Amino acid sequence: MSTNSAKAAAVAVADDAPILFFDLKSQAKRLRADIEQRLMRVLDHGAYIGGPEVAEVEAKLASYSGVKHGLAVASGTDALVIALMGEEVGPGDAVFIPGFTYNATCNAVLLAGATPVFVDVDPHTCNIDAKHLEAQIEATLREGKLKPRMVVAVDLYGLPADYTALNKLAAKHGMLVLADAAQSFGGGQDGRAVGILTDMTATSFYPSKTVGAYGDGGAMFTDDTARFERWASIRWHGTDAAKRESIRVGINGRLDSMQCAVVLSKLSIFDDEMKVRRHVAKRYREGLGNSVEVQHVPRGTESAWGLFTIQVDNREAVQKRLADAGVPSSIYYFKGLHQHQAFSRFAPKGGLPVCERLAQRVLSLPMHPYLTDPQLDRVIAAVKAAV
Ligand SMILES: Cc1ncc(COP(=O)(O)O)c(C=O)c1O
Repeated sequence: MSTNSAKAAAVAVADDAPILFFDLKSQAKRLRADIEQRLMRVLDHGAYIGGPEVAEVEAKLASYSGVKHGLAVASGTDALVIALMGEEVGPGDAVFIPGFTYNATCNAVLLAGATPVFVDVDPHTCNIDAKHLEAQIEATLREGKLKPRMVVAVDLYGLPADYTALNKLAAKHGMLVLADAAQSFGGGQDGRAVGILTDMTATSFYPSKTVGAYGDGGAMFTDDTARFERWASIRWHGTDAAKRESIRVGINGRLDSMQCAVVLSKLSIFDDEMKVRRHVAKRYREGLGNSVEVQHVPRGTESAWGLFTIQVDNREAVQKRLADAGVPSSIYYFKGLHQHQAFSRFAPKGGLPVCERLAQRVLSLPMHPYLTDPQLDRVIAAVKAAV
């Protein structure tokens, strides 16, 4: 058994155990007694929707992020949709999003009825490129067909986007910034946590995220009380606080008490798990050295290490060699958003060269808090041999 990261995480993972890309089973083993107790408590009080776990998890999330309000919702996608609906973003509005992200970011914009304007990303951080964003805002204004309303920045692989630049640019154009922090809960910037880095933040509790439910879930964060109240109403079919009257269009965007109980349990070990994620990333970065390009982390920014991603030439062959060496890997993402059938009508003229290049080169390595140091060293050796 190892005396390293996994031991610090209080579960015994054999050093020669198969390397897993994510490891929800070790975490479940560690939390099982606590989760059982919390779920039984829900059965005892019987408030499956809107039970005490919901308010408890919302208070914990808000306090973790140092923000006034946290709202638990049914998924990361609902969090994005509710945030857009909350500002009445819709037809005729331009929402600027990076071209290299999960399709949910774009789906949310389209579900709100707005038009996505794709922005290229930085080749090293993989996050939205503020310079290209400015160019796209100016081009949209020149064209005069859409009103620039919002930027949805994505914290890819757990790395917060450049919110200093984005907040400034958005303010200059009278726009709001929504952080799609589905992959970055636990990260931070300039000493502040994800959740308070911009006007509003949406995260996901998809099971493999840094905080995962046992099913779907998500959360939203804001310091603005009026905005929070609009979100709470939209989450509950658009009703007023007494839930008697529909005062706007809403959705069923609630997170149930069972999932909140699971998230509360996960939060009880979250600081420890984040410590191990940071350890894994550090060991990878030191061990890999200059053998491959790793995601660049700007000074003052702390990744949540939702994923650990490298860039390689000849990715297919590298991935096969890694698999042969017992190292699983995964590709996030195979295409830029503008290259997908459903979204290609929004493709900018000339495409998005950086997104397209990254889509050919990115490869994510095993990243979770239950990897042992000897396993990490096997991954490092396999990558060096494969590239
Ligand atoms: C960047 C990004 N945005 C949004 C989402 C959507 O979250 P969910 O799957 O919880 O709806 C995800 C999740 O996979 C994501 O990675």
